[in-house]
Amino acid sequence: MTRLPRGPRSAAIGVAAVALIAAGAGMWFLSARDEAPVGPIDAGDARLVALGLEVYRQNCASCHGAKLEGQPDWRTRKADGKLPAPPHDETGHTWHHADDQLFRLTKNGVKPPLAPDGYRSDMPAFDGVLTDEEIRAALAYIKSSWPDRARARQQRIDDAVRRQSNLTGDGK
Ligand code: HEC
Repeated sequence: MTRLPRGPRSAAIGVAAVALIAAGAGMWFLSARDEAPVGPIDAGDARLVALGLEVYRQNCASCHGAKLEGQPDWRTRKADGKLPAPPHDETGHTWHHADDQLFRLTKNGVKPPLAPDGYRSDMPAFDGVLTDEEIRAALAYIKSSWPDRARARQQRIDDAVRRQSNLTGDGK
């Protein structure tokens, strides 16, 4: 093997290294952005809540109930091993989750990182069925039904998640 003179060889290595670092930074940026929490879902936005009521009636009520009451015995697994649909009112645990989690759950369904690999659930993924705006609207409607105490607690959970990620969200 012919030895390259020292100068050009290290220059070549330098160029390759810069290219690698750039590619790595690009990937890091993309994945970091992908993980940025969605912007806060405003349950005080009357227009969003009105749209959400329509979206909810047409896409969610059949399982989660016309009054957000969920399915009977929602904590007990059915014969097929899957859970019934939980209520979205204050008797359920929807308000224990940050906006970002609720959004991803509705968009992507119950799967990693929100559930163990291979977890089986009747909760559909609404990606491609509803727009991001419609998903946000359905969740705004659900949030608007909670009494002040549950809303305040969910807000604190949401704030904590945003602080933790140290990002303010991408405003989606
Ligand atoms: C075909 C029935 C079905 C439909 C339709 C459905 N869900 Fe669900 N959903 C479920 C089930 C079942 C679960 C429980 C998931 C589990 O743990 O396996 C669930 C869980 C959830 C959860 C997480 C539980 C919680 O309390 O935080 C959210 C959020 C949710 N659904 C939102 C929605 C929204 C919003 C819609 C409408 C856009 C919707 N779902 C439509 C069946 C459904």
